[in-house]
Amino acid sequence: TGLFSYDPGYTSTASCRSNITFINGKKGELRYRGIPIEELATEHTYLETCYLLLNGELPSAQKLLAFDLEIRHRAFLHEGLRHLFNAFPDNAHPMATLSAAVTALASFYDEHLNMENGTEYLEMAHRIIAKIPTIAAFAYRHSLGIPFIQPDIDLAFTRNFLTMMRAYPGGKMHLGTEGHDEIKEVEVRALDTIFTLHADHEQNASTTVVRNVASTGAHPYVAIASGISALWGRAHGGANESVIAQLEMIGSVDRVDTFIAKAKDPDDPFRLMGFGHRVYKNFDPRARILKKLQDELKEEIGLNSHLMEIAEKVEEIALSDEYFISRNLYPNIDFYTGIILTALQIPKSMFTPVFVIGRTVGWITQWIEFKQDPQSKIARPRQLYSGQ
Ligand code: CMC
Repeated sequence: TGLFSYDPGYTSTASCRSNITFINGKKGELRYRGIPIEELATEHTYLETCYLLLNGELPSAQKLLAFDLEIRHRAFLHEGLRHLFNAFPDNAHPMATLSAAVTALASFYDEHLNMENGTEYLEMAHRIIAKIPTIAAFAYRHSLGIPFIQPDIDLAFTRNFLTMMRAYPGGKMHLGTEGHDEIKEVEVRALDTIFTLHADHEQNASTTVVRNVASTGAHPYVAIASGISALWGRAHGGANESVIAQLEMIGSVDRVDTFIAKAKDPDDPFRLMGFGHRVYKNFDPRARILKKLQDELKEEIGLNSHLMEIAEKVEEIALSDEYFISRNLYPNIDFYTGIILTALQIPKSMFTPVFVIGRTVGWITQWIEFKQDPQSKIARPRQLYSGQ
């Protein structure tokens, strides 16, 4: 007693020094490697953002081409890993399958346990960034009992993922609620922006888990699998799936008041999903970008108007309610992703895997930074003992 500071949830403890991502929660500011998120989301692609996070600067046209080609080549999975999916029940949540498959992936790349230089670190990072969308799409297709679609070397990162989700085996026709439609450029752009907005977020719960696992010397892909598991919870990345589930449960605009009252009731554990953030106490800049994108997409692709109406009502009431205002509870990124992903024909169970695809670059960049920091130590917090 008296020897340690007590900080449950680490609300005021810096666990590392980092030069990857900067957040000013009061001003609602987010930068990757010094570049504002607004600029990255509107003027650059997700792959450029990945390159930026890994290398500290945006790529030249030539470097981007080489990076893009390498990611396309590394998207394929070992046939042995493919069989793993058969072990899962049809109704397995894709997050469970994804986390297990990434752990299994570690066993195919023993060499990443002992990396000696920057080139080896980057090869390891490129491999996991490239393979995660394939694993996620396979997990989804297994859950539907439909054949896997292999990555297509002719397709760029985000279009490739949408194709692996929606295409018929071997064909260019795509499954969709409105018949067989090609994937539109506007859909690719929207998903690419969502990936960019998720790419990193400094020491959030899952990144802290990745760094803690890194600190024990475990394989980097096992650290990523642990990050995936941590992200699944609804207080973190699982919130995007819960937002849509909650809007569906509310069911109609005239029931919104009842649920707002539940969220405010101190004796009711019900929380408004997609509201609040540990660091942003003014607004979440990622949510602002997505709200704007959502408004633009209204015209271009069919956003589910029924759920949109309920979401808009929730937002309107919450933003003018004293309970939410006094606690600085604003819509966060997850409040808007669900509506957009639904319009892209991505089912609820795949919302958190989409978050995983975007965040993998952040996790692996933080893993590398941890490994290269001479001050890194094994994570080993103390406790205040209160037992006998
Ligand atoms: N609905 C109703 N009340 C809430 C909510 C909410 N969504 N969020 C926080 N509160 C209340 C909470 O009850 C507490 O009230 P009081 O002071 O009267 O006890 C106060 O606001 C502070 O909450 P807290 O739990 O101490 O805040 P935190 O910083 O520990 O938690 C949070 C942050 C994101 C876990 C929380 O706001 C929450 O559970 N939100 C809903 C889930 C969600 O949308 N998560 C996604 C976060 S953003 C993306 C990501 O990280 O993946």
